[in-house]
Amino acid sequence: MRSQGIKGPSYKFLHGNTKEIYAMRAQSMGRPMDHLSHEILPRILPHIHSWVNIYGRNFLNWYGAEAQLVETGFRNEGDKWTKLRKLANGVFHGESLKSMIPAMISSTEQCSKGGKQDDDKESEKLEQGIRNCIVEIIKKRDQETSNNDSKKDFLGELLEASRDNNEENRISLNDMVDECKTFYFAGHETTTSLLGWTVLLLAVHSDWQEKARAEVFELCGETNPTPDSITRLKTMNMIVEESLRLYSPVPAMKRKVKKEVRLGEMTLPSNMELYISPLVVHHDPRIWGADVHRFKPERFEEGIAKATNNTLAAFLPFGFGPRTCVGLNFAIVEAKIALAMILQRFKFELSPNYVHSPIQLFMVRPQHGVQIILESL
Ligand code: HEM
Repeated sequence: MRSQGIKGPSYKFLHGNTKEIYAMRAQSMGRPMDHLSHEILPRILPHIHSWVNIYGRNFLNWYGAEAQLVETGFRNEGDKWTKLRKLANGVFHGESLKSMIPAMISSTEQCSKGGKQDDDKESEKLEQGIRNCIVEIIKKRDQETSNNDSKKDFLGELLEASRDNNEENRISLNDMVDECKTFYFAGHETTTSLLGWTVLLLAVHSDWQEKARAEVFELCGETNPTPDSITRLKTMNMIVEESLRLYSPVPAMKRKVKKEVRLGEMTLPSNMELYISPLVVHHDPRIWGADVHRFKPERFEEGIAKATNNTLAAFLPFGFGPRTCVGLNFAIVEAKIALAMILQRFKFELSPNYVHSPIQLFMVRPQHGVQIILESL
């Protein structure tokens, strides 16, 4: 890669640059931020922040013995992914997504009344417990719908695929369990992160909280959101997009190059790993302007193309291309419902106990939670 002008920190025996990266991250995330700044890139990905300045926009670092190119990218997928992805695509759109709205509303209602979580299971038993639980749900649904009368949600589609007469299309029980786990973890942690950061932003920016609430009352009154009102919550959409930009729940994605491939001016050898970071792109002043670290939902007023100066790929909280998050619409609808129902019931401000300490533990999350003071309306 050096011959193609790609530079980077030098390889250290066995551990590549991993030790340096861990040390930099331990230092940057080791204590809270001094003030409530949204400039979180140097904190979450300090090595990238620093090495981009030294080695340029695209650079090579070593994750152990693995060469990793920090860039934007793509991926070719295997047959199994294509099959399962097709199935999931259909479920998280249109009528099928609409049919999930009542469940989202009732779970938000339960949370806003205060719920209790049973999280005291030992970790080694957890995986088996989760598997058993999923298998039980699958079997129960299988029995309910064995007369070929499957409900058209994701589980229904998976069950139908498991009964496919064509062996090539058929999926196994293990595939079903894996898919359910993927969807639960991919969907739960990310949406929790999005909601946490958005509540923080609205608690701090009370003007936007008021605007969002006024819109919710105008479109929904005091009743629960409907599919129609959810799509018309424009201010809310701008707020959610700005929150996803500043605090992208997924800070980075990886891709492996299967065989030698050209990427722009570069030729990438097979097995090279690409490291693509929404957080880096979302905090780039060349795209978003000098106020890149400010919370300014109005930048999305006329859509993503306008906000990004026609660089659509510069806004990628859900990834980009064929591998884009399959739960994108689900997540946005779920977040809008939860926020709308909170705004209908409460005014909120940040508690003096809140400590601003964004960290990355899989997702970008507030290390000590987001403490807010609620006032019933
Ligand atoms: C704010 C919420 C969410 C964010 C920020 C988010 C972000 C992402 C990102 C960045 C990817 C990787 C895309 C890529 O590699 O190019 C992804 C993939 C995925 N997400 Fe989400 N996600 C969210 C919510 C959800 C929800 C609610 C679900 C399920 C209901 C979900 C299911 C998935 C699945 C299954 C994949 C893998 C797709 C594939 O490989 O084909 N996500 N998500």
